[in-house]
Amino acid sequence: MAANPDGISPHVPGDHESAEARLLELKRVIAYHAERYYELDDPEIPDADYDSMLRELIEIEQAHPELITPDSPSQKVGGPRNDAFAPVVHEMAMMSLHNAFSIDELRAWSERIERRLEDRPVPSYATELKFDGLAISLRYEDGRLVQGATRGDGRVGEDVTRNIMTISDIPHRLPPGAPAVLEVRGEVYMSLSSFEALNARQIEEARAAGKPPKLFINPRNTAAGSLRQKDPSITAERNLSFFCYQLGVVEGGPELTSHTATLEWLGSLGLPVNEHSRSVASIDDVADRIAAFEKSRHDFDYEFDGVVVKVDDLGLQAELGADAKAPRWAIAYKLPPEEVSTRLLDIEVSIGPSGQATPFARLATVRVGGVDVSTATLHNQDQVAVKDVRPGDLVIVRRAGDVIPEVVGPVLSARPKGSKPWKFPTRCPECGEPLVRAEGVAATFCINFHCPRQIRGRIEHFASRHAMDIEWLGEKNVDLFVTEGLVADVADLYSLDFDRLLKFDRFGQKSVDNLRGAIEASKAKPLGNLLFGLRIPEIGQVNAQTLAAAFGSMDAVMAASVEELASVDGFGEVIARSVHDWFARPDARDLISRLAEAGLTMEAASTDSSLPQTLEGKTVVVSGTLDGFTRDGAKEAIVARGGKSPGSVSKKTTALVVGAEPGASKVTKAEDAGVPVIDEAAFLVLLETGELPG
Ligand code: IVH
Repeated sequence: MAANPDGISPHVPGDHESAEARLLELKRVIAYHAERYYELDDPEIPDADYDSMLRELIEIEQAHPELITPDSPSQKVGGPRNDAFAPVVHEMAMMSLHNAFSIDELRAWSERIERRLEDRPVPSYATELKFDGLAISLRYEDGRLVQGATRGDGRVGEDVTRNIMTISDIPHRLPPGAPAVLEVRGEVYMSLSSFEALNARQIEEARAAGKPPKLFINPRNTAAGSLRQKDPSITAERNLSFFCYQLGVVEGGPELTSHTATLEWLGSLGLPVNEHSRSVASIDDVADRIAAFEKSRHDFDYEFDGVVVKVDDLGLQAELGADAKAPRWAIAYKLPPEEVSTRLLDIEVSIGPSGQATPFARLATVRVGGVDVSTATLHNQDQVAVKDVRPGDLVIVRRAGDVIPEVVGPVLSARPKGSKPWKFPTRCPECGEPLVRAEGVAATFCINFHCPRQIRGRIEHFASRHAMDIEWLGEKNVDLFVTEGLVADVADLYSLDFDRLLKFDRFGQKSVDNLRGAIEASKAKPLGNLLFGLRIPEIGQVNAQTLAAAFGSMDAVMAASVEELASVDGFGEVIARSVHDWFARPDARDLISRLAEAGLTMEAASTDSSLPQTLEGKTVVVSGTLDGFTRDGAKEAIVARGGKSPGSVSKKTTALVVGAEPGASKVTKAEDAGVPVIDEAAFLVLLETGELPG
């Protein structure tokens, strides 16, 4: 469980007095956080922490029913209302839902229901998403939207009609035949895309004003805050949405017998009903649907924090009734929380393979998003400063789906006294050299080329699957080789003294043989893989393959001018300069010649010797779109026949092949240099015979 945000230890079931003391404490802390959540729309702790305190309170009350008081949060729905908006009395109370935190709890609920229904058949269950927004009641009279109100404390809410009117999902008029009075309840929420767009706008506006951006933390709080704006034009800008899921008071309208039919009817009136609501025949089917929702949770453009299960039959609902807080016929199955709080033990900086220094948090281990987490990223220096998280803080940690866990921010009310802002270190924790942050860039780097972490990073990258794929050279071996001084760069791998490895515990004859085999095999890897493995800035997997295809050999790449490199399709000045500068470095040239000496493949992969080498020594440039080849395909066909295919025309070019819409400058250049300009048909002959037709 998450650390208790109130910092007091949970109650151990026992005597009346300690239970009473703990209850008082819980009520105090819950009241504080309820105000932050419901009134200020600025919660300090994750919902999961709030829920767990509420749960503890309910457990104590169940063990000591004599301690239940009418002011207990277990007896109330939601929070108090905000007096800034006119009060609206809900003729039919807006209730809350009881929660289930496991499938076992869900089954226990359905067993209770089935027991109450005695020997009648097992009911069908309507399943729908539990949207993470703000509950709203809409009132239509004679088909016209007359009022929108928040839930408030369940009995009295706030009049937010003017703001509700700005939500484009919500019709102002219903089609003819709508009942005299229709109250419909649902959730106002903010879609993830609207949320991201809003924050992007905040960043843009702050940049224009030269100020740090004030970012919105999550869609739920933003939706709630947006709905309680005094100025409806602000609400309108926030692009809120709505799903309805329940009826309030209805006068007139059809005779409805099930929840599913109710939703269908609401949909037919033009009200937004979520497409994933479905009725199923058993609690096993409910469990299956929950599992599916849990899996696809991040494929939606809105957040949901659970699945609501309702007895579908409205007659049975009426029979089952409600307790003080929530109906008996429904339950909210809560998905594992994606935000929890825990203690921040320390902030450290890790150095990545490129030398980038990333601050990260060491945390008291906590379960979030279904996994145990003990470290979380803090992204960069600015993020730590903006969030002002400090060692010793209670912090909110978020882990959504496969995304790496991150620290969202501190719980300020729980900050230990005397804590100081954290300072970014000035020296690399790996090599002790100064860390450098270039102007206008968020990232900080260790720029020492000989930093052991960077050496390890370069070797790990070289050995990785899409580069040289040296299977038996894992992180641990690289670490060992660099620490022991056996390897200082990737070329050293090819002169490794394998016999010396046997003296290390981690190596036996078999593992040494495996490693030797894998290193040997890597020599045959295609040129594109080698170029990728060298970790040349700007040269990722795709650019590396493009370079290999365009130039055909390491020598040609090394000899290429910035201009020639820039004319490669998809490259530009920045990439060209990066490649050129890298190969101009003496240490890089030395590395390449040692790799060549070791016997690595220095020719392009697509030099297919089974094809006749008709274009040996010839250079063919392609411009425009051909019918029978893609751009890369044409180049590959040339290289596969022993030719070269750079992106620009020179005096040495054998021919310029032009397809539809060729580059005008290339054609002019070819004509000026007396280079033959040929069409696709002539290109085919050239490929076949090595001769220009005619
Ligand atoms: S039904 C009497 N259905 O969850 C039953 N509520 O924790 C009323 N919520 O106040 C609620 N999605 O704000 C229902 N599909 C859904 C829901 C849903 C989200 C919210 C609603 C409610 C709260 C209870």
